[in-house]
Amino acid sequence: MASGQLSREEALACSECRHACHVMLYSDTKTQLFGRIPIRHIILMQMRFDGLLGFPGGLVNPAEETLEAGLSRELLEEVGVALPVSVEDHVATCFAPASSPSSSSSRLILHFYVKKIEEEQIREVERAAASTATDHGLEVLGMVRVPLYTMKGGGGLGLFMSHTFIGNARSQLVDALLRFNLIAPKDLHKALTHSLKKHA
Ligand code: GTP
Ligand code: MN
Ligand code: MN
Ligand code: MN
Ligand code: MN
Ligand code: MN
Repeated sequence: MASGQLSREEALACSECRHACHVMLYSDTKTQLFGRIPIRHIILMQMRFDGLLGFPGGLVNPAEETLEAGLSRELLEEVGVALPVSVEDHVATCFAPASSPSSSSSRLILHFYVKKIEEEQIREVERAAASTATDHGLEVLGMVRVPLYTMKGGGGLGLFMSHTFIGNARSQLVDALLRFNLIAPKDLHKALTHSLKKHA
């Protein structure tokens, strides 16, 4: 397990900790941008109310609901579809970066899940998120797809990675892309190098 990570069980043993669960929903796709650039995967993130990019999900109180039931509830609120998420979809748990000052002194633990669904389900999530989701236009300004390609001139994933993300959502995305073989490591490296250059 990577440093700073803890198991789902260790996290739940902390009775005074707060918990938040977020999920990366993705599918395969044969769609091509401009009829020539393979999109390969549809990966959903969201533009949050605070202008930061993050994954759908939110705070869960384990005394009232399981982590996965809470995540499913948050999905209903934020994307309008109560997709079931299971313990098998869990990929990582860590303490939140200590940077954000919190009114409550209890530590926040972040649980991250990844769930692969069918392309048509992704499209249904996108439709529901923009219509029936109660948080649409409030906590969630809109769903966004992650571009996996790099174009001549550097557009694509590198520029996407140059945006600002909530908490450790950026590294959750990078880790998931590698873990689930959604991009070749050398292509990811190229994109990240481009995004770092832009920041410098
Ligand atoms: P409320 O309904 O207003 O309470 O929001 P919420 O329950 O939807 O909570 P939110 O999604 O904002 O997540 C709670 C906290 O988790 C945030 O304040 C961030 O610190 C953190 N967080 C939010 N999104 C992400 C994400 O995608 N990844 C990570 N690692 N942390 C996140
Ligand atoms: Mn056009
Ligand atoms: Mn929410
Ligand atoms: Mn949320
Ligand atoms: Mn909430
Ligand atoms: Mn809410």
